[in-house]
Amino acid sequence: MSEALRDQHGRSIEYLRISVTDRCNFRCVYCMPAEGLPWLPKQEILSYEEIVAVVRQLAPLGLRRLRITGGEPTIRPDLPALIAQLRAVDGIEDIALSTNGVRLPELAPALREAGLDRVNISVDSLRPERIAAIARRDLGFHPERALEAALAAGLGPVKLNMVVMRGVNDDEVVSVAELTRRLAVHVRFIELMPVGEMAHLTDAHVVPSAEVLARAASLGPLREDAGPARGNGPARYHRFAGAPGTVGVITPMTHTYCGTCNRVRLTADGRLRTCLYGDHEVNLRDPLRRGEPLGPLFVRALAEKPLEHELLKLRVGGLRALSQVGG
Ligand code: 5AD
Ligand code: SF4
Repeated sequence: MSEALRDQHGRSIEYLRISVTDRCNFRCVYCMPAEGLPWLPKQEILSYEEIVAVVRQLAPLGLRRLRITGGEPTIRPDLPALIAQLRAVDGIEDIALSTNGVRLPELAPALREAGLDRVNISVDSLRPERIAAIARRDLGFHPERALEAALAAGLGPVKLNMVVMRGVNDDEVVSVAELTRRLAVHVRFIELMPVGEMAHLTDAHVVPSAEVLARAASLGPLREDAGPARGNGPARYHRFAGAPGTVGVITPMTHTYCGTCNRVRLTADGRLRTCLYGDHEVNLRDPLRRGEPLGPLFVRALAEKPLEHELLKLRVGGLRALSQVGG
């Protein structure tokens, strides 16, 4: 591991999340307002060639794993072309995609063909009418079909992310956990972060992960588990005896895991963000467009990566929506 990729707190940074668009075909209640957000104009957004140029410059510093995010990344035209170019960069070992899954049945084979390793799918409900209510769009999304398409294309281990909201979808915790007894799927229950302008979602909608696990355990005992082999994010995993899949929790509201944070983010407009929250951003796009080297900027940005986020202090407002930051 290159020293350049250690931040001042000794955390090694080998994982980059790349947002390819701030736009989305959904309007999830916890993510963005119904009318959408002021989208970035096209010329502000990194082209595929520019994204690849950034990764080519950072890979020699120790970057190993990439995750493509949005907004919704699959609404950007010809995403497989980007995956194929990233796949060709020396040193990149793992490429994952975070998607709402709407376009997966159609795109999974081409993405796999291009060299994508695996996908995370957002599944906040298994009921079509409820999905449409949470996403504020009825796009005929069938989570099971997206999951099957991903598994059939070889895009595993597949993770399903569910943001748990009290009184909205928390009655489905048990049925979603149940999927892991039948399928090799890794469910992650995420604590709602009532951030941004979401006045309709408050602390009262947060379901602590301890409560989620207790509810899932009504199906049978859950034992701690290492979880899926690939990807080492902030989730903690459990497994039902003999189950092919696992039940994970991600706890932004009740615990921080900043101490083991191994990631940085590239926004769609080419800003490097070293922490999801707060506003530490380094503009890589303009230096890139001027032909300047990015390595020194990256090293400097890491030196400034904060030790801990200030979500719990700052969440009253003023934060960029997660779709703008890349989740
Ligand atoms: N709280 C928790 N998770 C969120 N995500 C987006 N907004 C929020 C929020 N307010 C995460 C969810 C979703 C993904 C796209 O980003 O995991 O599935
Ligand atoms: Fe789109 Fe994901 Fe935000 Fe939902 S959570 S609106 S799918 S970016």
